[in-house]
Amino acid sequence: MFLQIVFLLSFLLSTSHATVQDFCVADLKSADGPAGFPCVPPAKVTSDDFVFAGLSEAANVTNIINAAVSPAFVGQFPGVNGLDLSAARLDLGPAGVIPLHTHPGANELLIVNQGHILAGFISSSNVVYQKVLKRGELMVFPQGLLHFQIAAHKRKAIAFAVFSSANPGLQILDFALFASNFSTPLIAQTTFLDPDLVKKLKSVLGGSG
Ligand SMILES: *[C@@H]1O[C@H](CO)[C@@H](O)[C@H](O)[C@H]1NC(C)=O
Ligand SMILES: *[C@@H]1O[C@H](CO)[C@@H](O)[C@H](O)[C@H]1NC(C)=O
Repeated sequence: MFLQIVFLLSFLLSTSHATVQDFCVADLKSADGPAGFPCVPPAKVTSDDFVFAGLSEAANVTNIINAAVSPAFVGQFPGVNGLDLSAARLDLGPAGVIPLHTHPGANELLIVNQGHILAGFISSSNVVYQKVLKRGELMVFPQGLLHFQIAAHKRKAIAFAVFSSANPGLQILDFALFASNFSTPLIAQTTFLDPDLVKKLKSVLGGSG
């Protein structure tokens, strides 16, 4: 029995050896597909392809949300192609808000690095789960659900997020509604918001229609 297993194992190892592909660094010059980007030829891959330094500096938070999300998705970090993970950095000023948004393609794990963050999500049953997180604390946001992060105690905060996809996607609810060309009458009709309020938010966020 033991010998049979040894034979089987050595057979499997010898036959599978040639087909092992350790990585597939994205060739961003080609088109993205459902299975990710095509691979850069392994001979052209270097150590730098597996390293991303773009999250080491704070992003500029002088903007309407007093916050910034810096992605390290496959588009910025080709080394994560095919690995089913990626990351992002959140910088929140004292009044920072990451408005309600979803990642259609990934679960998220948030790790607070500095300050306090009020974070939460709304389940498909419309139950709200929220918590003030402090440095070193983690929170998960299941795939596709609306969620938010806010700087707590009017102090700046930093967090990193890890995603279960190389390309999680990001759709911000307020931008989808008020920074798009979704017509004001239809927004009012589908959200029950007052048209004057819709127009006001569109003028702030740059929407048309
Ligand atoms: C941050 O962004 C604001 C608004 O775009 C700009 O005025 C300011 O110069 C930027 N600050 C830095 C340090 O780049
Ligand atoms: C919104 O703009 C896009 C192109 O910018 C266009 O293709 C689309 O038809 C527009 N939608 C509406 C409802 O006007």
